[in-house]
Amino acid sequence: MKSEVARLRSPASFAVIGDPEARSLALFAEAGRVITHPRCMNCHPRTDRPTQTDAMRPHIPLVTRGPDGGGEPTLRCSTCHHAANFEASGVPGNPNWRLAPIEMAWQGKSLGDICRQMLDPARSHMDRAALFHHMAEDELVGWAWHPGGSRTPVPGTQAEFGALIKAWLDSGARCPA
Ligand code: HEC
Ligand code: HEC
Repeated sequence: MKSEVARLRSPASFAVIGDPEARSLALFAEAGRVITHPRCMNCHPRTDRPTQTDAMRPHIPLVTRGPDGGGEPTLRCSTCHHAANFEASGVPGNPNWRLAPIEMAWQGKSLGDICRQMLDPARSHMDRAALFHHMAEDELVGWAWHPGGSRTPVPGTQAEFGALIKAWLDSGARCPA
């Protein structure tokens, strides 16, 4: 699975698209190769239970988000997920390991719906600047490029992904239908 490293196209390669709306849509479609990847989706489930692996099967054992996304008081995510990937057991890790809130659920939604929801102030506390920083710099998001074990990383690098998001925002942040 890890043999082929998937690349991301650079924002410059979209400059030939003269129409800003069409360019914005094309940029988001490219960023969507990251957003809809199992490494991201597994933490953005539509129920209270995370999913695992490229097949996005329900997390084993049964764990649920709890009051803060970090698990129930009786079984915290941090019981098993430590500050870094643990290669001996293959358990992924990050100091902030927790589920995205249910208003940010992505599984089962189209890329267009995910796009509209992340720009909707009623569903997200992040304005556009915060959204950019989160995707370009947040190290929990960044885990998806260094997932450990035999997991497939998301395409490109986090910096390349951030550049696509910036170009998408600058070209009007259009969402696919
Ligand atoms: C009892 C131990 C345990 C607890 C508690 C636990 N996990 Fe896991 N989790 C694992 C193991 C082991 C794996 C790796 C399974 C694999 O890759 O085959 C895993 C994998 C995952 C993955 C999949 C990563 C990927 O992309 O493949 C996610 C997401 C995840 N856990 C989220 C959570 C969240 C969120 C919590 C708390 C609500 C949590 N886990 C609590 C043991 C646990
Ligand atoms: C280990 C779990 C985890 C993984 C993996 C993960 N996220 Fe998230 N994501 C979260 C959490 C938690 C939040 C909520 C952050 C907050 O509210 O400050 C979130 C929120 C977001 C948001 C804000 C959504 C909105 O509606 O405002 C975006 C965008 C996002 N993540 C992108 C990604 C991308 C892209 C990836 C993969 C490259 C990814 N995430 C992988 C846990 C995760």
